[in-house]
Amino acid sequence: MAMVLHSLQLLIILCVYFICLAFAQNEDQFIYNGFHQANLHLDGSAQIYNDGLLQLSSMSLNQVGHAFYTLPLKFNTSSSGLNSSLSFSTNFVFAMVRQFPNIGGHGFAFTISPSRDFSNASAHPLLGLFNFSNIGLATNHILAIELDTVKNDNFGDIDDNHVGIDVNGLQSVEAATAMYFSNKEGRNISLELTSGNPMHLWIDYYEAEKLLNVTLAPTYIPKPNQPLLSKRIDLSQYLLQDMYVGFSASAGESASYYILGWSFNKSGQSQSLDVSKLPPLLQQEKTKENTGLLTKSLVITVILLLITITGAAYILRRKKYEEIREDWEREYGPHRFTYKNLYKATKGFSDKELLGVGGFGKVFRGLLPSSNIQIAVKKISHDSKQGMKEFVAEIISIGRLRHRNLVQLLGYCRRRGELLLVYDYMPNGSLDKFLYSNEKPNLNWFQRYRILRGVASGLLYLHEEWEQVILHRDVKASNVLLDADLNGRLGDFGLAKLYDHDTNPQTTHLVGTVGYLAPELTRTGRATTCTDVFAFGAFMLEVACGRRPIEVQGLPTEMILVDRVFQCWRKGAILDASDPRLEGSYVKEEMELVLKLGLFCSQSMPAARPSMRQVMQFLDGDADLPELPHDEACFGTSTNSEAYGLSLFPSSSRGSAPSMFSTDSILRSGR
Ligand SMILES: *[C@@H]1O[C@H](CO)[C@@H](O)[C@H](O)[C@H]1NC(C)=O
Ligand SMILES: *[C@@H]1O[C@H](CO)[C@@H](O)[C@H](O)[C@H]1NC(C)=O
Ligand SMILES: *[C@@H]1O[C@H](CO)[C@@H](O)[C@H](O)[C@H]1NC(C)=O
Ligand SMILES: *[C@@H]1O[C@H](CO)[C@@H](O)[C@H](O)[C@H]1NC(C)=O
Ligand SMILES: *[C@@H]1O[C@H](CO)[C@@H](O)[C@H](O)[C@H]1NC(C)=O
Ligand SMILES: *[C@@H]1O[C@H](CO)[C@@H](O)[C@H](O)[C@H]1NC(C)=O
Ligand SMILES: *[C@@H]1O[C@H](CO)[C@@H](O)[C@H](O)[C@H]1NC(C)=O
Repeated sequence: MAMVLHSLQLLIILCVYFICLAFAQNEDQFIYNGFHQANLHLDGSAQIYNDGLLQLSSMSLNQVGHAFYTLPLKFNTSSSGLNSSLSFSTNFVFAMVRQFPNIGGHGFAFTISPSRDFSNASAHPLLGLFNFSNIGLATNHILAIELDTVKNDNFGDIDDNHVGIDVNGLQSVEAATAMYFSNKEGRNISLELTSGNPMHLWIDYYEAEKLLNVTLAPTYIPKPNQPLLSKRIDLSQYLLQDMYVGFSASAGESASYYILGWSFNKSGQSQSLDVSKLPPLLQQEKTKENTGLLTKSLVITVILLLITITGAAYILRRKKYEEIREDWEREYGPHRFTYKNLYKATKGFSDKELLGVGGFGKVFRGLLPSSNIQIAVKKISHDSKQGMKEFVAEIISIGRLRHRNLVQLLGYCRRRGELLLVYDYMPNGSLDKFLYSNEKPNLNWFQRYRILRGVASGLLYLHEEWEQVILHRDVKASNVLLDADLNGRLGDFGLAKLYDHDTNPQTTHLVGTVGYLAPELTRTGRATTCTDVFAFGAFMLEVACGRRPIEVQGLPTEMILVDRVFQCWRKGAILDASDPRLEGSYVKEEMELVLKLGLFCSQSMPAARPSMRQVMQFLDGDADLPELPHDEACFGTSTNSEAYGLSLFPSSSRGSAPSMFSTDSILRSGR
């Protein structure tokens, strides 16, 4: 019996071996006009439709998608006995469709990689290829030809519409704005990658010349004579013997990327795809092309009819959707949402969709009608015309900020007396609900620590990694929102500026929340990165201790969190300050670090506080925390009458720290 089983096993192994061999010999070339029977490995949001269309990335939140040829191909074989060259030739037809102009979508890349498992890679801005710890490393052995639609200064991107050659990272070794050489006209003609129209890309590598040519063109013309990119590069330095070829995409919230056909060849020139055999784009994405005359006139009749019928209704309803648009706003067109869409998205700003009420106004949940994207709309009452231009400029610039720990601003809309800001919707609401209310589950230490690190890196980005320093001015638990995976994202940055423009010069420009205000801020009214660090310190203590910075236990008795943590530390029992709801289950070293770092940031002298970069280093264990001063007077928060005197709102009866003037959370979860 055992003998039979054994030989059966052997037989199967042999069969598999020969099948593999057969594949290995033939399958270094393929051509897919549509992906019906394609030998592809898909993951993430990648899928193949019935008509053979390959969708790399759909409009789901932050999704990445990969589609790789299932089998590895032989590239760098010169060290082994095999005889295969590094040359390859490929061409594919793709379409990038985005929902709103100028937002969403990061791009995708044709990729040659030693692995087709990208489970550790991050979505945007890393295209689903790398994560923040391996990007740029020579051990990646990745060649990518990126179609990049976001200008990311961290990677030295030339613009938001380019093709680039990337090796092991996203800093292109060569890049060019999307365009094609017209053989007929003898000149370059520019293309917009995200136009939604299908385009054709050829990538050819010639080992003998060590030359990588990349050629782009619309689908209605043959391959141009001149490539867009031609780069001398020795791929034997980067590619290993067994490599996978395919596509990696990170579309973000509002774009979809499609591949219509793909031809690949390792033993010669890849056959150019026959565009007429390719599957059509989905109905809704289809570009208007040769619609028959009949349908055209039919469409026109229907449209005329509709116009007449709706004309009357329109005039009546116009008032309802009336907006303010001024000349200077023209350049911000792409970031404008129409009031009508926002009205519909929020079901007429219905109370049912109300997420919360902040210092500036109400926040509503919405669902954009055309794309099913969830948004949060902050409705801010704003009467003054003054400063609006500067503020909108600021908002647009903030909209360009992209960081996984910041709540993404998508755009805005203006009405008389009202400004509407549109943000990514954060399904889990604000962090304070998790810390203080019983309606949300308790967060464990791992989650809390990850949130702290995330918010620190978001704040570091605002302070040091953007073109200009951006102060948050109101870091606190209710301004930290949690996404679907419970990652912390900082919201409401930059809104303080609106307040600046809005006040008359007599009042102080103090923005922030009592308990998080650095002592020098209440004196000078001047916010700095040091005052943000102070607030972050209070926030760290808040998360570790599960208490607000100041708890009013019946006036005038207050519990000052910094003082409490300091007392515990001086007694040599700093862990006593930790949140009792954690029931002691936390990493002792991390808890101690967070509490001490919280104190360290809460020092009264601005110069004694660390920078956000140092905070990050401490949290990552890359630097040791210095000894804390033993004098209580070195730590301080503005809890005194000085601060209360400035407060617009007297301390609230629920014992929470009163919010001064300003920005409350944007997307607070509903009550
Ligand atoms: C590719 O093969 C050459 C020749 O054997 C070798 O020197 C080179 O290190 C290989 N490249 C990589 C990235 O392994
Ligand atoms: C290896 O390939 C090269 C070029 O394709 C060819 O000239 C050479 O004869 C091949 N060598 C062997 C051992 O097959
Ligand atoms: C980054 O990716 C590499 C390789 O997949 C993996 O080993 C590493 O753990 C990842 N790092 C993070 C922080 O996810
Ligand atoms: C992902 O990261 C984990 C932890 O570092 C590692 O064990 C795993 O091998 C990585 N996966 C891949 C595909 O690199
Ligand atoms: C077209 O663009 C390519 C790539 O940027 C450039 O090398 C070439 O000189 C341009 N040709 C003409 C005719 O402008
Ligand atoms: C690659 O591009 C260069 C630069 O335009 C050109 O000289 C060369 O002929 C191209 N190679 C092939 C095989 O088309
Ligand atoms: C690959 O190249 C060879 C040699 O030029 C050619 O015969 C074959 O048709 C090509 N295959 C594909 C799929 O392009």
